Amino acid sequence: MDVFTYDPGFTSTASCESTITFIDGDKGELLYRGYPIDQLAEKSHFLEVCYLLLFGELPNAAQLEDFENRVTRHTMLHEQMVYFFRGFRRDAHPMAVMCGVVGAMSAFYHDSTDITDPWQREVAQIRLIAKMPTIAAWAYKYSIGQPFIYPRNDLDYASNFLHMCFATPCEEYVVDPILARAMDRIMTLHADHEQNASTSTVRLAGSSHANPFACIAAGVASLWGPAHGGANQACLEMLREIGSPDRVDEYVKKAEDKNDSFRLMGFGHRVYKNYDPRAKVMQETAKEVLDLLGVKDNPILQTAQALEKRALEDEYFISKKLYPNVDFYSGIILEAMGFPTAMFTPIFALSRTVGWISQWKEMIEDPVQKIGRPRQLYTGAPMRDYIDIEKR
Ligand code: CMC
Repeated sequence: MDVFTYDPGFTSTASCESTITFIDGDKGELLYRGYPIDQLAEKSHFLEVCYLLLFGELPNAAQLEDFENRVTRHTMLHEQMVYFFRGFRRDAHPMAVMCGVVGAMSAFYHDSTDITDPWQREVAQIRLIAKMPTIAAWAYKYSIGQPFIYPRNDLDYASNFLHMCFATPCEEYVVDPILARAMDRIMTLHADHEQNASTSTVRLAGSSHANPFACIAAGVASLWGPAHGGANQACLEMLREIGSPDRVDEYVKKAEDKNDSFRLMGFGHRVYKNYDPRAKVMQETAKEVLDLLGVKDNPILQTAQALEKRALEDEYFISKKLYPNVDFYSGIILEAMGFPTAMFTPIFALSRTVGWISQWKEMIEDPVQKIGRPRQLYTGAPMRDYIDIEKR
């Protein structure tokens, strides 16, 4: 009989070899293709990071221009997809709409679903990166009953997304460069994070050679959970519920209570046993955005700062090495920009799409790639004879 190692949650099982992202959880280090995340957040921008993740090296000026032109050419959605959006209930969560619409791309873009053709694979990668902001923005517009706003290719990637979310046919939205930069940083910080739940889902779905759009839809579904990408929404809702710094203590005690299932959202990470390096950049960006918007004495930010300070000094959080993660501050920035909480996870999804598709590409190009097929430890009944219903 075969003997298998039982590793619930895959805490010590490597599912693949990868050259894309490296995390040192003890030091709190995150590298994309060897480059530290804080340098990329400071000096690079999202589309350059997309190129780096997809192709392995930073582009030169001509390569970047070509890549940006290719992405820009694909920002519109097939016009018939409008009907697809309209089929959803108005109060559907934008993540529910995204799961459906991204999966439906396989029905609209047949010419990029043959994964044995390298050119078709590349077109699928570009299409996904280009169209995801449009899909997320339209899911938002649909949820608030406003007309869809078409992409503007004269704007950079982040500004175009803000434009599609906040412009209306009656009023142009002038994108503030500081807000566009903050959005670009949020995208860069979320772009990839090695074999997390949603990325592993994409790889597993792709290992059967399913078409890339269906695989990315599987990633969107996995990301939605509050233990993963849904934590940014859950974190802001928690901060609102806490309401003010003087209630922080009560919630920290609640999180420590073994008989209470409550957890501090935006704290803890499977891999980081130190400060999440993305959270540091996020914290600085939150301050910049709130200063720009003239938000003073914001109770949510004050509560977040008090909570962070209290938890970092707390014996329970210290002993379990629970530090703020990327989602702790991202919600504060997004809310200040005018996004409702339901849009936080879609923004994570559109940012992570490049990571998913880069990991998918790496897997498909890997000559030792096999279909993912975990085994199990069977703990059910031994073989027994069927009992007729009248004898049960
Ligand atoms: N608040 C209170 N206690 C916690 C927390 C928390 N946020 N996170 C972990 N713990 C405790 C947990 O109760 C457990 O205690 P014990 O050893 O006594 O049973 C111990 O710490 C280890 O937790 P775990 O659930 O076994 O660890 P994990 O690696 O399976 O989970 C996690 C990681 C991120 C799911 C978890 O820390 C969590 O639920 N955090 C809150 C949700 C969150 O912020 N998620 C975003 C993650 S970053 C963005 C992303 O990658 O998606």
